[in-house]
Amino acid sequence: MANDTNLEINLHPTQDELSRQAFIVKFKQKVNLDLQRDIRTCVAKNIAPQLESDLGEPLDDLNRDHRKALKQRMSDEHLFKTWESLTWIGQDMMWNVVDETLDHDMPRLDAAAAEVLKREQKLGSLTLDPNLDLPPNIAKVEIHRQPGGFCLDRDGVDYDLLSGARMTGGGMVYGAGKGRTAKPGYSAAHFLISEAEKQFGKLKPKRILDMGCGTGSNTATFARIFPDAEVCGIDVAAGLLRWGHARCESEGVPIHFKQMSTAKMDFEDESFDLVASTIWGHETTPQILRDSIAEIWRVLAPGGISFHMDVTNQPGYQDLVDQVLNDWQIRHNGEPFWMGWADADLPALMTAAGYPEDCQFTGYRKRTQGAGDWFVHGAKKPV
Ligand SMILES: C[S@@+](CC[C@H](N)C(=O)[O-])C[C@H]1O[C@@H](n2cnc3c(N)ncnc32)[C@H](O)[C@@H]1O
Repeated sequence: MANDTNLEINLHPTQDELSRQAFIVKFKQKVNLDLQRDIRTCVAKNIAPQLESDLGEPLDDLNRDHRKALKQRMSDEHLFKTWESLTWIGQDMMWNVVDETLDHDMPRLDAAAAEVLKREQKLGSLTLDPNLDLPPNIAKVEIHRQPGGFCLDRDGVDYDLLSGARMTGGGMVYGAGKGRTAKPGYSAAHFLISEAEKQFGKLKPKRILDMGCGTGSNTATFARIFPDAEVCGIDVAAGLLRWGHARCESEGVPIHFKQMSTAKMDFEDESFDLVASTIWGHETTPQILRDSIAEIWRVLAPGGISFHMDVTNQPGYQDLVDQVLNDWQIRHNGEPFWMGWADADLPALMTAAGYPEDCQFTGYRKRTQGAGDWFVHGAKKPV
């Protein structure tokens, strides 16, 4: 951590903004937890029995026509309309409070990054590729309705950190608003490593790749857990990588950030012994996911482990009510690729890319912090 807090690459909300953030977290929890519970009760008591009687068969979580029919009935329900409006408003309030902080904190953050980047001895590196064909599913979509999206790059700004700053600010509210509280300092990367070690024993990677690393918060955790490893983080969004680079340099964490797509990586064959990702796959298109699964196998060294964790929105896992709620998020909360992810057949994709079947794994793992599960997939490459 930077000793001088003015040099810290993290948001400095005022007391007023912190109290507004706390209000928005409570507001979102009310909507995400209480209101959704009431919707489930209403479906179970009223809507589902009537629909099953009209259809003449029980509702089946894997039947898309049933999902459509339930969605139709739920859409007419006052409670669902209220949930839709409040979900939208909660997300608006979240981005508004983030930008309130950035309105006064961005000049300090820009100055802090400039100061850190002036250092002659860099620990890691940042390699941007101005010629990269940005995938439209990320570049043209405001994921989670983040203003300007992840790939925002303002004309005339040399080292544009804004998208990284916004993603970081949203992160202060979004997960907590879903009722996901983790102890301070605990990240998805801790979970990933502990699950991978449960499965494969103690890991000693020499070279780690974090795919779709965003602002690099989990990448930094990998580097802290394995201080002797060389750690690379890749993403398509330059502003997220700039933020990650400045932050990791300021905190003394050596990471090599590179702008590239997971679907076509510039790394040598078999050059990483741990290839990881946290909540990346659900933002890909089916084609990008297919190509990336093949690329992971190409860059994974013999004996290496590929381990990925993501959201659990598969129809075989979620009931119809959650599928309808997700469908709304896909249409109205900047998550257009969730359903492609939900329907992805990871074992088939891995097999098609040449992974032997007995090396692969997929499944659900209980979160050790907060409620619910993660969906995990990956493989260990034979020596
Ligand atoms: C939800 S964010 C997660 C970021 C980070 N892994 C974390 O856990 O905080 C997903 C990230 O994947 C990146 N991404 C999506 N598709 C990608 C692709 N084809 N190549 C590289 N990065 C990609 C996005 O830009 C975004 O930063």
